Amino acid sequence: MSHILLITSSPRGADSLSSRFANEIAAGLKASTGGNLTVRDLAASPPPHITPAYIQGRITAPAERTVEQVEAVRIAQVLVDELHAADVLVLGSGMINFGPSSQLKAWFDHVTWPGVTFNYGDAGPRGLLIGKKVYLVTAAGGRFAEGVWAAFDFQTNYLLHLLGFIGLTEVELIRIEGTVLGPDALKAAITNTETTIAALLTNPM
Ligand SMILES: Cc1cc2nc3c(=O)[nH]c(=O)nc-3n(C[C@H](O)[C@H](O)[C@H](O)COP(=O)(O)O)c2cc1C
Repeated sequence: MSHILLITSSPRGADSLSSRFANEIAAGLKASTGGNLTVRDLAASPPPHITPAYIQGRITAPAERTVEQVEAVRIAQVLVDELHAADVLVLGSGMINFGPSSQLKAWFDHVTWPGVTFNYGDAGPRGLLIGKKVYLVTAAGGRFAEGVWAAFDFQTNYLLHLLGFIGLTEVELIRIEGTVLGPDALKAAITNTETTIAALLTNPM
């Protein structure tokens, strides 16, 4: 039985397509595998921005941490524990100013943790979260998968890099593109994504 972690991060609430389709994938995987589902909505409950207490706290021995440092590290530990417990991560992200939302960036700032989710060896950095499958659902108002705008996709490329950096290299990418390019483009984006997800769920993981 697999454990699925669903993380959504768009600040657009019920209008969010990345959240809608990430939810759909997680529900489909849960139904087909009989797995457990943990849900973390980063827009509803954003992690704080990281602080000196967090940065110092994570390199300070637990017994020597200040009260502030204990709390800052605790927040990161909860998020990392959720990742460790998961076999499958379904991650939804909506483009905000060419990158992921600041809520999702704050989550990565907590889970990208030297000695815990990655370390540096003789061969360079090594991700420690291995053997997990990721479904990454990215939505964007424009189209970035190819063409001249591809160079300005600081969402999908960045997220793939960050995931890989902590060891999450087995990624199925679902792109929802052109969501603000008019009603026809929006309709096509939704139909294409529904088709992609239906195909994915017929042969999951
Ligand atoms: C504050 C804000 C900033 C945005 N910035 C961009 C952008 O830089 N490029 C783009 O193509 N779309 C941009 N959009 C459009 C969103 O990427 C689009 O609505 C997308 O569907 C959001 O993902 P979601 O549907 O999961 O919320 C922006 C939307 C908002 C609300």
